[in-house]
Amino acid sequence: MADEVTTRDVRSAVQELMPTAKDELATLVGFRSVADPRQFPPEGCLAAANWVREAFTAAGIGSVDLVETVDGSHAVIGHQPGPPGAPTVLLYCHYDVQPPGDESKWTTEPFELTERGGRWYGRGAADCKGNIVAHLLALRALGSPFPVGIRVVAEGTEEMGTGGLEALVESRPELFQADMIVVADTGNAAVGEPTATVTLRGIANVVVHVETLAGEVHSGMFGGPAPDALAALVRLLDSLRDEAGDTVVDGLENGQQWDGVGYEEAQFRTDAGVLDGVGLVGTGAVADRVWARPALTILGIDCPPVVGSAAAIQPRASARLNLRVPPGMDPTVAQEALTRHLDAHAPWGARVTVEPESVGAPFRARTDGPGYAALAEAMAEAFGKPLGTVGQGGSIPLCNVLAEKVPGAEIVMLGVEEPRCLIHAPNESVDPSEIENLAVAEALFLRSFGS
Ligand code: BES
Ligand code: MN
Repeated sequence: MADEVTTRDVRSAVQELMPTAKDELATLVGFRSVADPRQFPPEGCLAAANWVREAFTAAGIGSVDLVETVDGSHAVIGHQPGPPGAPTVLLYCHYDVQPPGDESKWTTEPFELTERGGRWYGRGAADCKGNIVAHLLALRALGSPFPVGIRVVAEGTEEMGTGGLEALVESRPELFQADMIVVADTGNAAVGEPTATVTLRGIANVVVHVETLAGEVHSGMFGGPAPDALAALVRLLDSLRDEAGDTVVDGLENGQQWDGVGYEEAQFRTDAGVLDGVGLVGTGAVADRVWARPALTILGIDCPPVVGSAAAIQPRASARLNLRVPPGMDPTVAQEALTRHLDAHAPWGARVTVEPESVGAPFRARTDGPGYAALAEAMAEAFGKPLGTVGQGGSIPLCNVLAEKVPGAEIVMLGVEEPRCLIHAPNESVDPSEIENLAVAEALFLRSFGS
């Protein structure tokens, strides 16, 4: 059958290209493309952007440009028109990465792709550079001329939430017009389990500052009545959980239920690396808690480190808070509610100020269109199993902007970021078989969607 020939040809083309893909991923991981000039020089991002531009050009995308956005980042934007009457598919990815964090927690260098136990380790190996490589593989396996119009978008500040690309979609929506948008920045439920992500939570971050004293004072001379700012912060943060551990923010609903396929508790424990004997937090099904409800995480606290701390009471302390906002909840409303909650729960009259940080909307994808159907078939073909669906607790604020500005497009979310990748953590890695299978699926999809 013609279809079988296609599948086999695509598979062997991708397999032949896998050594190249590994070299390319090594090059990409080598760019320190953390989009925060306070942490890494901007040259790392620019070099990554230029590499991505050249790679997509070499893969057959005729015009690929760097477009500067309002947050100073460079989006890589490419277009290769398809045959007359053919639909257009937009392939999304991002080339910026999370900072590596404490490098002593990495077994090998974060910016050096290293193979271990069949996985490839490095910051961004999965999120999202592995997805860039999968897009490239799919295009090369097909070869130009492509059966559909292709747009390529590689974002430069996805991990920062500074919204450069969102603003570009607003100001130049013509660059993003497509029938189908493949957002390759999520992952399968597990290695080898083809999965589309159907919902994302949004995000509403704040930094909260607490001030109580004019300056540090001796903890023996003043400890007791003196209002300890760090203790005030601890109390304040604790007001954001109830006795069961569910997130509570005054005025925000927290009893939502997930209506899709669930998330096995044992699987969740394994995926999250929860230690034996340590319980999960909150009430309701795991999927309710991680995909359908708000969740607050304390990302960082400014206070004296253990080594070097003095026996003194702290006059001020700050924390950076990350509120995940479920589908159906407005992230700006959630951020305002969080701000009001923090103001209202300050103990001892401590002075609290709340600085808003990034907000991003949650998202729910449609799964009833022809693009999704074609993709489901291609994923099943490539992985040898039917396509499943999950929610994701993470956020890709761009999805909502695309849904609004490209109203005719179907948006599908997938990628190489399965739970074992440990994205955003030390020792991030990718399973090369996920890159291969995803590239095969994407190539098969592009071919079938074009005919
Ligand atoms: N790839 C992630 C989103 C994601 C996380 C998808 C988990 C699937 C599973 C993305 O790069 C990301 O981390 N986004 C940020 C966005 C934020 C800065 C607005 C996030 O979720 O923290
Ligand atoms: Mn990502």
